[in-house]
Amino acid sequence: MSARQSPQGQPLDRVDGPQKVTGQARYAGEYAAPDLLHGSVVCSAIASGQIRHIDASAALAVPGVVAVLTHENRPPLACEDEAYADADAADGAAFRPLFNAHILYSGQPLALVVAESLQLAQYAASLVRVEYQQTPHRTDLLADLARAHPAPAELPAPRGDAAGVLAGALLGIEARYSSPVEHHNPMEPHASTVLYGDDGHLTIHDKTQGTQNSQQYVEDVFGLKGKVRVLAAFVGGAFGSGLRPQYQLALAVMAALKLRRSVRVSLTRQQMFTFGYRPCTVQHLQLGAGADGRLQALRHGATAQTSRFEDFTEHVVEWSGMLYHCDNVQLDYQLVPLDVYTPLDMRAPGATLGVYALECAMDELAYAVAIDPLQLRLNNYSALNQNSGKPYSSKALDACYAEGAARFGWDARPLAPRSLRDGHTLIGWGMATGVWEAMQQPASARACLAADGSLQVSSATTDIGTGTYTVMTQIAATSLGMPMERVRFQLGDSSLPKAPLQGGSFTVSSVGSAVQQACEALKEKILGAATQRPGSLFAGLASAQVAFIDGALQRVDDPACRLPLSELVSQVGELQAEVEAQPSKARDAYATATHSAVFVEVRVDEALGTVQVSRVVSAIAAGRVINPKTARSQILGGVVWGIGQALHEETLIDHNLGRYMNHSLAEYHLPVHADNPAIEVLFVDEPDSVVNSLGSKGVGEIGIVGVAAAVANAVYHATGKRVRDLPITLDKLL
Ligand code: MOS
Repeated sequence: MSARQSPQGQPLDRVDGPQKVTGQARYAGEYAAPDLLHGSVVCSAIASGQIRHIDASAALAVPGVVAVLTHENRPPLACEDEAYADADAADGAAFRPLFNAHILYSGQPLALVVAESLQLAQYAASLVRVEYQQTPHRTDLLADLARAHPAPAELPAPRGDAAGVLAGALLGIEARYSSPVEHHNPMEPHASTVLYGDDGHLTIHDKTQGTQNSQQYVEDVFGLKGKVRVLAAFVGGAFGSGLRPQYQLALAVMAALKLRRSVRVSLTRQQMFTFGYRPCTVQHLQLGAGADGRLQALRHGATAQTSRFEDFTEHVVEWSGMLYHCDNVQLDYQLVPLDVYTPLDMRAPGATLGVYALECAMDELAYAVAIDPLQLRLNNYSALNQNSGKPYSSKALDACYAEGAARFGWDARPLAPRSLRDGHTLIGWGMATGVWEAMQQPASARACLAADGSLQVSSATTDIGTGTYTVMTQIAATSLGMPMERVRFQLGDSSLPKAPLQGGSFTVSSVGSAVQQACEALKEKILGAATQRPGSLFAGLASAQVAFIDGALQRVDDPACRLPLSELVSQVGELQAEVEAQPSKARDAYATATHSAVFVEVRVDEALGTVQVSRVVSAIAAGRVINPKTARSQILGGVVWGIGQALHEETLIDHNLGRYMNHSLAEYHLPVHADNPAIEVLFVDEPDSVVNSLGSKGVGEIGIVGVAAAVANAVYHATGKRVRDLPITLDKLL
């Protein structure tokens, strides 16, 4: 990269890459402290009932065991529900760890054994005996669909007369789709290391997508206002699992307060299946169309599970009211409370489910009207989001279709199922559309020209593996005309300027805008200092006459007239600016979204029913891409997860026990390298001057949306068999 080429838009390596590959990057459960204690969690073996008695005597008798915390001896906790309501809380009353004797779900934490070593704590935890008073539980969504109640979600009002038009439509399809529970399973399990300070202040290394969310939670639940700092320098993946403070945080804090010592609590892989997840969902789709395949009416209903204590909602059916033009639309969304933990946002929450069903139904419609599935989408293209009636700030989905299809070779696709084969292998081509919101939240950042002339930028946001360290450095370096090496971006610290949760694909839009604006504000201060200083090379010049180039100020009309920023700062001292960036008002008149077109080839063994995804092309419209390399990695990860959703992932519950059974990475099947084909990612050109000043819409989630439908549609094209219940395992194909 030449010094003059702006870093923004370049496929740069991660600035934190060397730290990660050399093991220097430390995660929440890897921080040490003098006399650090270790906690091991004892989880409930029943799904519903009461704790009658916890016998910790055998555990306490083990030398090196310091305490066993239960609901009976824990430190005081807040009583009001509001104290537990974090920034991603669902409607209802959030779960309270070790609060009382009630058991709300299998896997619920009931005790924390604290010992001088992790091994001692784990061994002693196995000695804790819990006596239960069991009550009957219900954990099966499919058995309890009759108990569904409307979700507390604001759905778009019905438009037109969907039922009436469906009844008279020339062509129609009606189908039911279902999908199982999925668990997040980031590589790094949840962990919190609480460092107990002499003054009773807590410094907490937490696995979280929001340091200030965890900070607020601990302050509110334990009454520790102003005494808590939460750090998350590195996060080994999260995908939504870190959007809410998880119970290991509360348990580690309890132990630290009780024992006045530093404590770490790390969850095991099995315990990663004892909190939020993507809910089991049943969906019902009805589409009515004319012979041209244009949608005349659409009904989409979804029913999902939730817990007894919270109503978890996500946007499942809304996408069906906005993705295609349709004048008669009716959407419905219901929940069934069960004796399970509350579901939790998981990568593109709601859209992965709702768009899966819609895009399979569109494929079914394509066969019903005998129109190519891609052409069917084009026939129904909408420049408006009909849910809101607003035009899109930009929508290059048509370019995704065209460029993705060209790269894939879609033109050569025969219409009829079972028309491509290679010996005993049936080959199928399927496609689907993806959509996700392009959101922006208020966010703050601070930019500082340090004494050594380097640029230090900071915000409390996190980097859950998405590339935030790198992308923010690129934005700052570009703004100040600095080489990347002279810029340092600091994050993952609740004491830094306020940032929203890292989620919703809005970090670049939100924090990136704040970084850009803070840097622009810093530039004003630098210019002020340079132009107002008597005797300066730049005295009396207007801003437009001075450029920021390669770490120096330079006269636009005389490049030889140059002042390195390091020299300026030695003359005038450190300069700093802090800004809170708000979404611009201009956004209000528009709908803002990212889109994708996914094309998939599968090879199905006709005799065995095994499905291999052999090719994927994912064409993405996400505005301006700040770093095509890290952005591509986001899409790759999304596509792999989409393949997992389509073919592999499923957390199975034994309803007799009310307990998840395949709670390990051996039995919870994920796509491994052998399951993953060559995946091609294209970013189409999509200029957008409305969405934010970066023109960037975010790429963390769009990559998964539509993938499962494209795989399912390809399986149908290969086999002529429509499997509507995910995952598509071989038993369903035989
Ligand atoms: Mo994402 S599910 O907002 O981490």
